[in-house]
Amino acid sequence: MKVTVVGAGGNVGSTVALTLADRDFVKEIVMLDIERKEGDKSFYPSKGRALDQWQTAPITNFDTFLKGTVNYEDTAGSDVCVITAGIPRKPGMSRDDLLSINGNIVKSVTEELVKYSPDTIIIVVSNPLDVMTYVAHAASGLDVKKVMGMAGILDTARYRAFLAEELNISPKDIQATLMGGHGDTMVPLPRYTTIAGIPVTHFIGEEKLNEIIERTKSGGGELVGLMGTSAWYAPGAAAAQMVEAILLDQNRIFPCAAYCDGEFGIKDLFIGVPVKLGKGGIKEIVEIDLNESETELLRASENAVRSTLEDFKKLVN
Ligand code: NAI
Ligand code: 2OP
Repeated sequence: MKVTVVGAGGNVGSTVALTLADRDFVKEIVMLDIERKEGDKSFYPSKGRALDQWQTAPITNFDTFLKGTVNYEDTAGSDVCVITAGIPRKPGMSRDDLLSINGNIVKSVTEELVKYSPDTIIIVVSNPLDVMTYVAHAASGLDVKKVMGMAGILDTARYRAFLAEELNISPKDIQATLMGGHGDTMVPLPRYTTIAGIPVTHFIGEEKLNEIIERTKSGGGELVGLMGTSAWYAPGAAAAQMVEAILLDQNRIFPCAAYCDGEFGIKDLFIGVPVKLGKGGIKEIVEIDLNESETELLRASENAVRSTLEDFKKLVN
């Protein structure tokens, strides 16, 4: 099994690679990034991170080889490619700037990847997530089942971690799903949150639960506020979990950005929905029942993703 991570000289990409290597079931992980020039000096961050991480193998005991590169030839024959390439938003930059810069990066990266791995599966991490997943799919020519975005596993992990801390209960026993776009309009679903099979409302009052839901929605921003840049440990672990589910054909049920063609009344859009993930990518979208208020929240999130997508289309046309 071979996995490529693009943007692997950065925080999220290198975390995806090391998390996977630590699980020790992939033969090779190719870590690709661009050459960085500073004055007359050149740096190769993905080569450096790959070398450093490979040198953990004798200590933490894995065989997975980590190869750093700037050449797409080295990615040939990848079973799964994870795209974390892009830039985070910087002061003075508009949302449109981020959209067009990351859109161009994701498009060109995807074209290169499918040139060398025409049957690959693509997991997008770059932001704005739902629209970048659309871009990768359009550039790849791949079946919609083979292109997806990572956000829901991260957002539910934040929700589950907050609940675990508040209730002093193991995060392992907290199960939840969440829908919608990766942003302020995401839709955590308390009705589908259980602790060891028991509805979460048995353990927590409405007011505290709502506080946790609001904290989850701004979970990414909370970390930017603390670190001056966006998170990488949980995002990297989440993307690695998707790679594992696909390569080991685990049939896991996760919220992922997937192409909806009428599911939940959503047509022609990549957005977060519960999916069954295994060999070949998305095996099915799990169409859970939503009540009126959940449907309303999902519509608002759908509209937000569509509006960003329309902005992107205007920028590139
Ligand atoms: P980072 O700046 O640490 O890493 C990004 C890497 O992409 C850099 O090493 C850069 O050299 C590389 N890159 C830029 N253009 C490239 C190109 N054309 N080809 C190959 N590599 C290229 O950023 P970080 O923190 O790793 O975040 C990466 C992306 O993931 C950002 O867009 C961020 O907003 C997004 N993100 C998404 C999350 C999600 O839940 N979907 C969670 C966390 C981050
Ligand atoms: C996050 O949620 C910024 O999307 C990134 O941490």
